[in-house]
Amino acid sequence: MTIGMTSLRYVRGFIDEVVTHGPGLKSLVINIDKLPVTVPGQFIMLWVPGYEEIPLSPSYHANGVIRLTIRERGPTTRKIHSMDVGEPVFLRGPYGTGFDLSRRARYLLVGGGYGAAPIIFAGHVLHKKGFESMYIEGVKSREYGLYTEEAGKLGMESMLVTEDGSSGYKGLVTEYVEKNIDGYDIVLGCGPEPMLNRLIEICLEHGVECQVSMERYIKCGVGICGSCILEGTGLLVCRDGPVFNARDLLEAGYEVGVDD
Ligand SMILES: Cc1cc2nc3c(=O)[nH]c(=O)nc-3n(C[C@H](O)[C@H](O)[C@H](O)COP(=O)(O)OP(=O)(O)OC[C@H]3O[C@@H](n4cnc5c(N)ncnc54)[C@H](O)[C@@H]3O)c2cc1C
Ligand code: FES
Repeated sequence: MTIGMTSLRYVRGFIDEVVTHGPGLKSLVINIDKLPVTVPGQFIMLWVPGYEEIPLSPSYHANGVIRLTIRERGPTTRKIHSMDVGEPVFLRGPYGTGFDLSRRARYLLVGGGYGAAPIIFAGHVLHKKGFESMYIEGVKSREYGLYTEEAGKLGMESMLVTEDGSSGYKGLVTEYVEKNIDGYDIVLGCGPEPMLNRLIEICLEHGVECQVSMERYIKCGVGICGSCILEGTGLLVCRDGPVFNARDLLEAGYEVGVDD
């Protein structure tokens, strides 16, 4: 079934590699030929028979290989964390709007926790385009770090920001951004909502464009059920996002600083 140009059909893929990053954090590298290529920031729905399907924003996707970076939270992600090489998974998508990476500009890439997934994917695409960017990842402690090394291997400047100071810069990722934002044209952010709200404020203060990836409860993924509405805005995360330009969010009535 298709809605507009959006397919609701599942495509089967097979796990090719399982990477353990740190406590409760794994990536699955999946061979999947027939899934249309994802733009960084778009999401796919992953289904393992017997469990709920869940939205995930890939941390890489090219040439029939997709990488999903998953934090263990509840029944479905626990099941996914128990899976091994060779097992099948079912994906549909990609859905929604990804980051706008079309402009030759200096990009500051900011990921918090598993929000680093679409951010490092954006780093890969910007690197291929030859656009300048810096990668910043914020975590509680060094063992939760995901992709600063990978960003370094791409030749990008990168920084791990740890709350406990166990590696890199000690503090909140937004504090580091505030000190280093000058000279950048566009900030891309994905992570916990308080982090995104602060990023939006910093970008407004510095006159820098800001694109953020928002999370709400996604069921259909294609704009039908209304479960993912951003309160007070009329915007649907699955259809109008998950990546929004902060300017559009604010114009629609999104209130920075008001948590769920
Ligand atoms: C656009 C988008 C991209 C995401 N990308 C990633 C990613 O790359 N890596 C990652 O680890 N997680 C990602 N998530 C979150 C991930 O979907 C949830 O952690 C997962 O659905 C939890 O399922 P569960 O059954 O393990 O836990 P549950 O016990 O069912 O839920 C635990 C918590 O996860 C959230 N959640 C559960 N189901 C959904 C759902 N259908 N939609 C949104 N949130 C849900 C809720 O906050 C819930 O309280 C993304 C969410 C969205 C909306
Ligand atoms: S998840 Fe159904 S409208 Fe967004």
